[in-house]
Amino acid sequence: MTGRIPQAFIDEVVGRSDIVEIIGARVPLKKAGREFKACCPFHNEKSPSFWVSPDKQFYHCFGCGVHGTVIGFLMQYEKMEFVDSVADLAQRAGLEMPREALKGSEPSGADLHEVMARMARFFEQNLADQPRAQKYVSARGIDAKTSARFALGYAPDSWDALLNRFGSQPEERPQILQLGMIIERDTRGGERAAGFYDRFRDRLMFPIRDSRGRVIGFGGRVIDQGEPKYLNSPETPLFHKGRELYGLYEARQARADFKRLMIVEGYMDVVRLHQAGITYAVATLGTATTQEHLNKIFRLTSEVVFCFDGDRAGRQAAWRAMENSLPLARDGRELKFMFLPEGHDPDTLVAQEGPEAFENRLGTALPLSEYLIQQLMVDVDLNHVDGRAKLKALAAPLFARMPEGIYREMLADRLAARVGMPAATLKKSFAAGDPQRPPPGRPELPGQRRGRISVGRGNLLTQAITLVLQHPTAAAAVRDPEALENVDRPGVVVLRELISQAAAASNPSTAMLLERWRDLPEYERLAELAMAEPLVAEPEGAAKELQMAVEKLLDEYGPGRRRDELLRKAEELGLNYDEKAELSLLLKSKGRS
Ligand code: UTP
Ligand code: MN
Repeated sequence: MTGRIPQAFIDEVVGRSDIVEIIGARVPLKKAGREFKACCPFHNEKSPSFWVSPDKQFYHCFGCGVHGTVIGFLMQYEKMEFVDSVADLAQRAGLEMPREALKGSEPSGADLHEVMARMARFFEQNLADQPRAQKYVSARGIDAKTSARFALGYAPDSWDALLNRFGSQPEERPQILQLGMIIERDTRGGERAAGFYDRFRDRLMFPIRDSRGRVIGFGGRVIDQGEPKYLNSPETPLFHKGRELYGLYEARQARADFKRLMIVEGYMDVVRLHQAGITYAVATLGTATTQEHLNKIFRLTSEVVFCFDGDRAGRQAAWRAMENSLPLARDGRELKFMFLPEGHDPDTLVAQEGPEAFENRLGTALPLSEYLIQQLMVDVDLNHVDGRAKLKALAAPLFARMPEGIYREMLADRLAARVGMPAATLKKSFAAGDPQRPPPGRPELPGQRRGRISVGRGNLLTQAITLVLQHPTAAAAVRDPEALENVDRPGVVVLRELISQAAAASNPSTAMLLERWRDLPEYERLAELAMAEPLVAEPEGAAKELQMAVEKLLDEYGPGRRRDELLRKAEELGLNYDEKAELSLLLKSKGRS
């Protein structure tokens, strides 16, 4: 999606928006020096650790680690999509969204939904006409009403049934290809004619609907035996696995307001549970539960029960789900873990014991805190001297993922009580933790709160990157950024990119630079450096420092260093043939730079 909006337009939107105004309209901000602070809207806290910088047009919470630009804030706070956040800000600034950005999201997006709806009806119709598939549905214990409620269907046993029906005109094919419903033939070698074939063949089809009930993808199960058992739609403009929950639309249809949602593992589990009257069941789509899933759920209810099979895979999935839920754990939210007897899943169990007995199992579900403590205790022998140290080591990264607040305090208290350790001792070993990463080695002074990181004077590259991020206008002062190409240090490409991005923009800001890295792995680290203790306060000073850092980098790691090394060796030991050639090249290139 990001790619469709031209970078220049994103720059313009960021440049014309005021992050203090946008955040201030939603969170009461207090002026503190050049910046503003507030109690973080993303985690529970009593004293403010959420900072907004008008200079950098960036926000950062030193408590829970959230951060971002004005676009990121709307995405996090208003749960908007990227494109919608940009559109919203553009509208406020009186800017018109470029055509490329609209194309493929709204107008043709509506068409894509329409095509998906027609394909879902096609599958449904096929199920009605196919006794073998119908027989399978009833053998799985699904009645006609439930089948209709979930709009179950059947993809014919054919390579081109859907293709012929929806893609008979060549111009229709790109769209159904984009929707992941057909696959392009591999024509390498040129033996076969170019062409397409149906992705789903001879499968029971489960349409996946978004919160508005529009079909955005499918899951298809083989009838009886075969591999893979379930085939899912690939990621498409409409379908994002990590965001969607199967059965959520149907759950909301069934009752306007539910006390809780239960997350199960499979399509069939959802369908069978709903049929049994347990209409608050949803499933992830063959992936672990993500924070995005949980955010979606916590907007609807405050109680989530994870339901796992009792086997090893189920226990592993539970641990991952727990780790992913920690950042969202807070007072007022209930996260529970329920384990079924080995060899059962919700589908088979509800069929065997009925809905009442199944629901009674909710009583055995473990709250997140209990589950976490129980699992930690499994791995730790407290009678052994190393037991406590190990416990702290295992627990610290888990605690570090949790937002500061009552909930985390409570969990630390409970864990301390259980292991017979003073709570204060245990908490102290967690207090140094940074929510994003395992606790750093640097010692914390007593009473010092977690805060801005400081960039060590020792690391030149990190310093230079921090300078560009904090004072993007300084980048223009770097005399020969291209020379960095010859610096042999991991990460120097990041510096080079940043300098050229900042130098190319007419009025660069920290936020503008960071927006360019939004989807890249370096983003988190760059955001952290952007908010680190400033190395220099003023842009003029920053320009000088940056130029010096770049020169030093060239000096220490650039071609000059190798040249000097070879010259020294020539004098002391003499050079072999290759080294002579290398040195002569380096000496020539010196003349050029
Ligand atoms: P299971 O293998 O536990 O199947 O997969 P199930 O839900 O019990 O299915 P039935 O009862 O045999 O029909 C659980 C979920 O994992 C994903 C699907 O979402 C499935 O519902 N999965 C499983 C896949 O995506 N691909 C597969 O090949 C298997
Ligand atoms: Mn099953």
